[in-house]
Amino acid sequence: KLEKTLAIIKPDGLFGNYTDDIKGTILEQGFSIVKEKNVQLDEATVKTFYAEHSSKGFFPSLIKYMTSGPVLLMVLEKDNAIADWRALMGPTDASKAKITHPHSIRAKCGLDTEKNCVHGSDSPKSALREITFFFRELSADVIAEHD
Ligand code: CMP
Repeated sequence: KLEKTLAIIKPDGLFGNYTDDIKGTILEQGFSIVKEKNVQLDEATVKTFYAEHSSKGFFPSLIKYMTSGPVLLMVLEKDNAIADWRALMGPTDASKAKITHPHSIRAKCGLDTEKNCVHGSDSPKSALREITFFFRELSADVIAEHD
């Protein structure tokens, strides 16, 4: 099924000059990049985006990390995009990914459970929420796909 998902290259990914590499992998794996924008997120935006983690101990640190520099927001599209992008990223903990998923993106450019370089929506419901959160103009499109 053709799906869209939200991908983010986080500040450590942009600082580390991994962007071209990651985009190369994305295209090689058959995704198309429907939309992208380079933005500096502010605290309020990150808090709302990650609201489900607001009670976690790592929340303040996550806010600091995600506002530490610009991020690249991308809407990716392909058959089974949501699960396939998560598989390509590898596990949340980049230090473990280096051992268990050495070819994953997080293994190559991430550091640990927090500084893991990339984000991907974890379900069709999150994809809908996350894409419309940053790309309001795509909402009709994404809603139609989820019918
Ligand atoms: P992401 O997949 O974008 O979703 C939530 C983010 O919170 C996650 O990537 C990490 O950047 C961060 N995160 C998740 N778990 C932890 C943790 N245990 N400690 C610190 N940061 C975390």
